[in-house]
Amino acid sequence: MQTYTLIAPAKINLLLEIIGDRPDGFHELVMVMQSVDLADIIDLKALPNDQIQLHCNHPDVPLDASNLAHRAAVLMQKHFPDRGGVEIIIQKNIPIGAGLAGGSTDAAAVLVGLDLMWNLGLTQSELQELGATLGSDIPFCVLGGTALAMGRGEDLTPLPNLDQLYAVLAKYRSLSVSTPWAYKTYRQQFGETYAQTPEAQEQRRREGPSVPLLTAVNHKDTAQIPQYLYNDLERVVLPQHPKVSALRKKFKQVGCLGTMMSGSGPTVFALTKTQAEAEALKTQLQAVMGDPDLELWVTQFCGSGIQLESA
Ligand code: C5P
Repeated sequence: MQTYTLIAPAKINLLLEIIGDRPDGFHELVMVMQSVDLADIIDLKALPNDQIQLHCNHPDVPLDASNLAHRAAVLMQKHFPDRGGVEIIIQKNIPIGAGLAGGSTDAAAVLVGLDLMWNLGLTQSELQELGATLGSDIPFCVLGGTALAMGRGEDLTPLPNLDQLYAVLAKYRSLSVSTPWAYKTYRQQFGETYAQTPEAQEQRRREGPSVPLLTAVNHKDTAQIPQYLYNDLERVVLPQHPKVSALRKKFKQVGCLGTMMSGSGPTVFALTKTQAEAEALKTQLQAVMGDPDLELWVTQFCGSGIQLESA
């Protein structure tokens, strides 16, 4: 029986700006998302009955119906009944609870993989729409590359590929951040500053920190892009996790083009122009921090989302 093997890249946020509240209870966002080549590998095998089986090499990943990849398979069965079941095997390389969309990208891989396995012929935007019902980052994980994400995160505009940049990712193994906690705390602390009307939200978008970053991205100006990294959630996560704040400062001191926390954290990334610079930065940071709890990865920006391994 054929196995479909999918590569599911992580993402970092070059920018995450919180604009205001949405009627659906989520936040209205402006984000610039970037895929990186640290990826989970997902194998899908058809099962003759309606069963969904999930396996993962990481002991902390839930294997029940709460797992987003499992939920993606249930969603596909609901929309396309009588196609059978699936065995999902996740080789987890992306750290969990990290702000790198590890769970979302696995779910995106299940959507893309079942579309292929069941020969459905769904379009990118149909897959993204299905993904949006499960999580705000899933549509981007399907698309990948570099993109502007607005609304809840599902309203995507592709941007020019920036795959000549490298990102060193750093995360303390023992730390993770709950995304709902980060947004809830942000609302408690900064809710009174939210743009309240659609007009005020539009003005905030037009005048906000995304403007210079998008100009730099559209010009593929890799010297300017790192100057305009931005993440509102740092305002709640860094005070809560002084170790992450110290890590971010250390990246700056050691020297990189720019550094920022990704998503709701606690992963911090630092940008370099070459792989050799990224490797040197990783080695230097490991040496100065001297903490076995700190994990580091050298990654390159990549121009695609979910891919078949053979593609
Ligand atoms: O969509 P997703 O399940 O990834 O979102 C996780 C949590 O993050 C939501 O439950 C919500 O608390 C918060 N969130 C938000 N506004 C967004 C995206 C996420 O408030 N646009």
